[in-house]
Amino acid sequence: MRTQVVIIGAGPAGLLLGQLLCRHGIDNIILERHTGAYVLGRVRAGVIEQVTIGLLDEAGVGARMHEDGLVHDGVQICVDGVRHRISFKELTGKTVMVYGQTEITKDLMDGRAALGAPTVYAAQDVALHDIFADRPRVTYRAGGEAHEIVCDFIAGCDGFHGVSRTSVPPDTLTTHERVYPLGWLGILCDTPPVSEELIYVRHRLGFALCSMRSPRRSRYYLQCSLAEDIEAWPDERFWQELRPRLDEEARHRLVTGPSIEKSIAPLRSFVAEPMRFGRLFLAGDAAHIVPPTGAKGLNLAASDVRYLSRALIEHYAEKSDAGLAHYSERALARVWKAERFSWWMTTTLHRLSDNPFDQKLQLAELDYLFRSKAAATVFAENYVGLPY
Ligand code: FAD
Ligand code: PHB
Repeated sequence: MRTQVVIIGAGPAGLLLGQLLCRHGIDNIILERHTGAYVLGRVRAGVIEQVTIGLLDEAGVGARMHEDGLVHDGVQICVDGVRHRISFKELTGKTVMVYGQTEITKDLMDGRAALGAPTVYAAQDVALHDIFADRPRVTYRAGGEAHEIVCDFIAGCDGFHGVSRTSVPPDTLTTHERVYPLGWLGILCDTPPVSEELIYVRHRLGFALCSMRSPRRSRYYLQCSLAEDIEAWPDERFWQELRPRLDEEARHRLVTGPSIEKSIAPLRSFVAEPMRFGRLFLAGDAAHIVPPTGAKGLNLAASDVRYLSRALIEHYAEKSDAGLAHYSERALARVWKAERFSWWMTTTLHRLSDNPFDQKLQLAELDYLFRSKAAATVFAENYVGLPY
């Protein structure tokens, strides 16, 4: 087989890139290890930046998002039982939208199906060859048969555990990593959210987050230890641990119910540099991970795709490789700022140590955030998404 771009991974990065390329007449094939149903079953991110919204519109898949997405003008931060609000709208003129990654993935899958573009689900043993040559190749197995695709470029959009990043010669790659000694235990529940806005909770018992997917569907998270066994968390225990971390009003408004999903995600900061190796370009979680506290993972995947899609379109339409040459540098400049913000949110809101000095510093950071318009503006600018 022959195509222009082979995209590895049908997460948000791969599907969005495929959609943008198709709309500019660039042929692409997506290879995904799992089934479509499995990909849609993963509950992940919930908050999207305006630039991500713009890109989904550009990809022609924004209609349902504008119908069902919830526009949020601000966010709430609760510190040891006292709630504060930060208004994005007043400080930056911008807003964010609550619209789940599952829904975005579904919209992108439907958009791709409508264009008749090829996706191979359940592709096994995907392997990359000749990435530094003019005609790289990708091999895989599907339906018991071996296949080979010759292409111009490979986009590695296969997440943190994918094959793309690990296919590059080790001496060409530098990785930077911070692993936090904790995870997030999340549950999804068909009950109304405690608040119209998200509440990030800093409490001496540990971090919590009250989020949502719709006016009838809530998403809650609790800081947990990495060794935690999900079987040890019946719903009742989750609610018992969440309730005391909330302020009085939220406790009063909390409606509990049976969970429809429950999972644990580890917290990690990770960056691989560069993001280009010959004709292989990494995008999204394949190149970098942020802890979810800043709601940046999915948005960073979208910003990489914006740079990469424009560079590939420029290559084919204008015969210019300037965008491809600058891809890694441009993407990483934005990645590191999101790494910084996500690290700051994580270290400021979680119980990471029993050292009273660390806890006093957290409280000082937060007190400053609530009292200083400059500090609140820095927070708001980062949360709504930095400019490209
Ligand atoms: P992914 O969504 O990981 O997609 C990669 C795709 O590649 C997958 O479908 C995978 O099956 C496929 N793949 C992997 N290996 C291969 C292979 N060898 N061959 C073919 N295909 C392959 N972000 C937030 O902002 N908020 C959150 O609450 C949040 N929660 C998260 C919870 C978890 C458990 C995880 C893992 C991430 C979470 N994130 C969250 C981050 C956010 O979901 C990711 O940043 C986003 O999914 C990145 O999109 P992506 O397309 O780059 O990668
Ligand atoms: C979510 O709703 O899943 C969510 C929201 C904000 C975050 C992380 C996750 O920072």
